[in-house]
Amino acid sequence: MRDTLPYVLILYYSRHGATRAMAEQLAAGVESCPGVAARLRTVPPVSPTCEAVDPEIPAEGAVYADLDDLRNCAALALGSPTRFGNMAAPLKHFIDSTSALWLNGALTDKPASAFTSTSSLHGGQETTLISMLLPLLHHGMVYAGLPYSEIEVMNTTSGGSPYGASHVAGKRSDRPLDDDERHLAQAQGKRLARLALALDAMRREER
Ligand SMILES: Cc1cc2nc3c(=O)[nH]c(=O)nc-3n(C[C@H](O)[C@H](O)[C@H](O)COP(=O)(O)O)c2cc1C
Repeated sequence: MRDTLPYVLILYYSRHGATRAMAEQLAAGVESCPGVAARLRTVPPVSPTCEAVDPEIPAEGAVYADLDDLRNCAALALGSPTRFGNMAAPLKHFIDSTSALWLNGALTDKPASAFTSTSSLHGGQETTLISMLLPLLHHGMVYAGLPYSEIEVMNTTSGGSPYGASHVAGKRSDRPLDDDERHLAQAQGKRLARLALALDAMRREER
């Protein structure tokens, strides 16, 4: 018997708050699914100065993730601002510390997805989502994008794609999520929560 709810780890990096706003919408979607909790975690920035260390608790927002957050999750949503069409270095830096989990298959058969924010509409959202998919596949996770049954995937004129939720934050990273982007972020969180329950039950049955 477990004494806590299975949780979806929403692990993101955000410099200016746009990706964080998306993470909060995914969390709302997760929490709309009974029996699953959302756990928001972030990662510290990285610095070219090796000696620079960040305080253990960030000044605002979610606390920093540790490997146990990842090891024990029932599902994972990875979020990053787009940087040159790729995920941001702080998130990649954290992922590169997960070899121990890879070695013992801790994330195998768990559902995962990705979300991103860009300044421009064609600034590389899809490539960034795919860059986040790659390490998830190496970990044996089951990737879940967004199905076209969410009609906003077809109708959006901003963010949101079959590869995952996304947001166009504008030049100053201050454009709020619009209705389609918000809906799709929540739908992705909810879908991940449902898949988390289903695959959690499957893994328990096999044990
Ligand atoms: C180094 C760097 C590279 C970036 N590369 C891109 C890019 O390739 N395409 C794009 O549209 N925006 C790019 N941006 C802008 C961010 O993706 C955008 O401002 C994002 O919404 C920031 O998210 P945040 O508010 O969560 O930090 C870049 C920003 C930085 C600092």
